[in-house]
Amino acid sequence: MEKTIIKGTGRYLPPRLVTNDTLTQWMDTSSDWILQRTGIEQRYWVPEQGGVGSSDLGFEAAKIAMERSGWKADDIDLIIFATLSPDLFFPGSGCLLAHKLGLTSTPALDIRQQCTGFLYGMTTADAYIRSGLAKRILLVGAEVHSTGLDISTRGRDVAVIFGDGAAAVCLERMETDDKAGILAACMHADGSLAESLMTFAPASRENPRLDAKMLAEGRHFPTMDGKNIFKNAVRRLPEVAGEVLKKTGMPLEAVDLFIPHQANLRINQAFAKAMDIPESKIYNNIQRYGNTTAASIPLALDEAIEKGVVGAGSTVMFLGLGAGVTWGAVLYRFGV
Ligand SMILES: CC(C)(COP(=O)(O)OP(=O)(O)OC[C@H]1O[C@@H](n2cnc3c(N)ncnc32)[C@H](O)[C@@H]1OP(=O)(O)O)[C@@H](O)C(=O)NCCC(=O)NCCS
Repeated sequence: MEKTIIKGTGRYLPPRLVTNDTLTQWMDTSSDWILQRTGIEQRYWVPEQGGVGSSDLGFEAAKIAMERSGWKADDIDLIIFATLSPDLFFPGSGCLLAHKLGLTSTPALDIRQQCTGFLYGMTTADAYIRSGLAKRILLVGAEVHSTGLDISTRGRDVAVIFGDGAAAVCLERMETDDKAGILAACMHADGSLAESLMTFAPASRENPRLDAKMLAEGRHFPTMDGKNIFKNAVRRLPEVAGEVLKKTGMPLEAVDLFIPHQANLRINQAFAKAMDIPESKIYNNIQRYGNTTAASIPLALDEAIEKGVVGAGSTVMFLGLGAGVTWGAVLYRFGV
């Protein structure tokens, strides 16, 4: 049977460390408020002067993942680039990354699914691989949030949460009858909640798409109904975890590690409680990176592999909920 396996992973964080205390110079907040409400202690942002886009971060992460996988750029059949903060309005960051990798005709696809971008990316890659359309896919999740946040007190509920970063995963087709690789996936979207978490402008439905009034109102910054998103995450994550397990007939206990999207430590703790799983089975690193959206799950995966928390024979569940709203889960087992 042809399955999709993770051949190698890599991550890259920009060098500018922004602690909770650093944020207090721009907005009325406190380290304690941020820590207690979100679990976040620090995050990394790109240099303040700009010039670094998500494809730049993705490029650094991709080089590491490719090196660990023994891949050269020419081995890649498809690039899937998940981001909500593309370098440009268009073309997609996947095209920019392909160029940085020296590729001149390899297809590149951007996924704009925010916090579930990596999950949608994995599912799409799995479909390409199992249908025979591609053998090796470079999947990247990368975000530069910091240049698009309102770091004044007006935007503090959103700005304190987000970090910049990237992670890449090399996905490869493998012939196996073993229960390895991507085992099952469940993806969902409910657009009725789109305005609970969004960046309004630039918007094609507005003419002009962005004007001085919108800028003054801060409509180019993300806004979030945090409580509503929180409530949905706490309801949907256990639901979709159960759904993906049911698809495979595997019991909850068969999962060695849950790697949830890193939106808020309290969401992941509530998930553990709802599922009656020990918190030691949930991988969290939001404390150090904040919410890196499409990068958060592969970033956590890369760390978990490096630390030996997961490896040969481990079963992992990736899951998350974010803007859209979209939510989903992917069940994966490392080959032995
Ligand atoms: C954003 C979030 C941390 C806010 O926490 P919360 O407990 O809901 O807090 P609230 O928004 O109700 O705000 C409570 C108070 O803190 C204030 N506050 C908001 N941000 C603050 C900050 N950074 N520092 C200090 N005070 C802040 C609010 O103004 C409010 O004050 P008030 O009571 O005087 O009106 C939380 O809702 C959350 O994490 N939601 C989910 C995020 C998520 O999953 N996103 C999806 C993926 S991106």
